[in-house]
Amino acid sequence: MKVAILISGTGTNMEAVIRAWQQGKLPGVEDIPIVLSDTPDAPGLEKARRLGVATAVVARRPKEPRESHEERLLGALAPHGAGLLVLAGFMRVLSPFFLSRFPGRVINIHPSLLPAFPGIDAQKQAYDHGVKITGCTVHFVDETLDGGPILLQRAVERKDEDTAEDLRLRILKEEHELLSEAIAIVSEGRSSIVNRYVKVERSHEN
Ligand code: GRF
Repeated sequence: MKVAILISGTGTNMEAVIRAWQQGKLPGVEDIPIVLSDTPDAPGLEKARRLGVATAVVARRPKEPRESHEERLLGALAPHGAGLLVLAGFMRVLSPFFLSRFPGRVINIHPSLLPAFPGIDAQKQAYDHGVKITGCTVHFVDETLDGGPILLQRAVERKDEDTAEDLRLRILKEEHELLSEAIAIVSEGRSSIVNRYVKVERSHEN
């Protein structure tokens, strides 16, 4: 399966996925043909290029309707034949129009244990709320904000001495592993969804 990665920012999750694939840890992934950004100066673009992966930028023009921007995103993806889209810090909610073109084939990484703390700055929301346990989630994307069926989650403990930044970084480290694990599952066809519950078959290697 070919996998396209969509980013808006730093791209550390994207980098972790590309490295895992280049190290042969994602055997279901035949190629990562494109990293697509909606943000022209996303630092992740340079990281992708250094790793030898092609990049494209499709920024939303001032006052451009969402559907028109999404048509251009789809146009940029079309030549690459991706079977899976991975949102790795991609800061847009995709419409049903866009998602109908990739049904069940878009996943997102989110830095909290959903459904707690959807939206932006999830780590800080959890920190400010005073939670003892937070974490990260990879979920299938639907038209709701961070609301699609949950594929994988990993818990991260908040320690007494943590600053918000300490906690963010500890979650990010787990995200990097979790996202590659999720891509392995989807690319090897090891997940199925019944009533929102995503069942995952264990890999033969485990
Ligand atoms: C991550 O925390 C991810 O969960 C969230 O946005 C952040 C992106 O970080 N959706 P990076 O660009 O992968 O470094």
